[in-house]
Amino acid sequence: MSFDLILFGGTGDLAWRKIMPALFQAFRHGSLPEGGRIVGVARDDLSDDQYRALIKARFDQVELAKRPSEEEFSRFAALLGYLRMDLSNPADYAQLAALLQLRPADVVVMYVATAPGLFTTVCEQIAAAGLNGPQTRVVLEKPLGHNLESNRAINETVRSVLTEQQIFRIDHYLGKPSVQNLFALRFGNSLFEPLWRREHIANIQITIAEELGVEKRGAFYDSTGALRDMVQNHALQLLCAVAMEPPINAHADAIRDEKLKVLRSLKPWTPETLRQHAIRGQYAGGTIDGEAVPAYRDEPGVNPDSRTETFVALRTEIANWRWAGVPFYIRTGKRLAGRDAHIEVNFRPAPHAIFNSPLACSNVDNRLVINLQPKDGLELHLLAQGADQRQGGTSRGAPTLAPVQLDLDFDKRFGSERVGAYERLLLDVIAGRLNLFVRSDEQEEAWRWVEPILDAWRHDTAGPRPYTSGTWGPSASSAMIAKDNYCWSEES
Ligand code: BG6
Repeated sequence: MSFDLILFGGTGDLAWRKIMPALFQAFRHGSLPEGGRIVGVARDDLSDDQYRALIKARFDQVELAKRPSEEEFSRFAALLGYLRMDLSNPADYAQLAALLQLRPADVVVMYVATAPGLFTTVCEQIAAAGLNGPQTRVVLEKPLGHNLESNRAINETVRSVLTEQQIFRIDHYLGKPSVQNLFALRFGNSLFEPLWRREHIANIQITIAEELGVEKRGAFYDSTGALRDMVQNHALQLLCAVAMEPPINAHADAIRDEKLKVLRSLKPWTPETLRQHAIRGQYAGGTIDGEAVPAYRDEPGVNPDSRTETFVALRTEIANWRWAGVPFYIRTGKRLAGRDAHIEVNFRPAPHAIFNSPLACSNVDNRLVINLQPKDGLELHLLAQGADQRQGGTSRGAPTLAPVQLDLDFDKRFGSERVGAYERLLLDVIAGRLNLFVRSDEQEEAWRWVEPILDAWRHDTAGPRPYTSGTWGPSASSAMIAKDNYCWSEES
């Protein structure tokens, strides 16, 4: 099967940080179908060779194991080409059409990795140039809009020229091996399913913590913020994966129907819950890995008086039979104490205690931790009789148990066969598999749920709470969860 992949935004940050390295990995693994062309599109005046040189230079910055050798790069470079386009100029799409007609491919992937403001223009122009045939698939990067209304407007325009089957809304978290393992854990094994409900689960915590700041994306991030950048998409998709009902089969719509139901069941916000259960923060200067780092407001491209949040902690509930009353906590932020993304499922304590619990958060003894990054694996935390208790406790009181854990390291187990998130998703687009892509109704529902938070924060003069870089965010986040008598994992 031959394919053409047209990468709009071909010189942008995303192209060289994620998309090109992922395409190269797919190439290296021999999974890219034969007969492919990859065409970078941008405004810069570059020849094919200059574009290849640009990508080669960028590859020197990716991690060593993922860097191509000279020989590998020259083979990969044979697939690469470049087209200069002004994306608002219809005549330039005619040039693209001419290029595609030179060698008609079985599949044409249009990857729109541009500034979000251009998404609809690109889709409309693709259609106007007659490039939206049945072989065409369009990949749209997030964020798709900045609120429900703008998201709907984009979806409407895109749907007016393409069918839903042709639209691949990417959320790279869904491509992470650990997220697919969560589906495998839940729907390929029967062990946890009977426990996966309110009767046995006390709370669920989703953490996506980054050490990095806003890097070179200050201007974009300042008009976006953590709620739009991470919660509306990545964190809510993780929440869906953990809370959804078993789908009737593994088809894209069966999975997406179940995720949609979760989003529809999220408890609506009230003025009270918005005040108590939606915490925002913004990083101040601090130290990360022993190095001083600047405050968010001092980052390039950021307004020095910015009120944009770089940290969010939320508490919500899912109003259905499986989850009623179980708190779901979400937290994400930049410049936190570590790069750590995980989901923690905290089980209810034993109904009658004959032992003492050693943990600070004594109401949670058993937990299942699904690690997304930096490592990818599962931990099952239990309590056991520790060495100091060989005598069987004391005559004066109950023995204290020791925390122990079962550890499954998927990187070790599956090491060399692992496929990264973007690589996996790009191969899925080429193969036409929609399972790990987001449908428009899911996306709209997620916007509907976050919008009251955006509105409340816009009107709240207090602004985000400052937190020192290299910490776990503002103390209000711990206080929020402590009100339920729980704590975040690093505090237990
Ligand atoms: C992107 C956000 O979607 O995800 C970035 O725009 C964030 O701000 C990134 O840094 C995190 O992705 P990952 O895979 O590194 O956790």
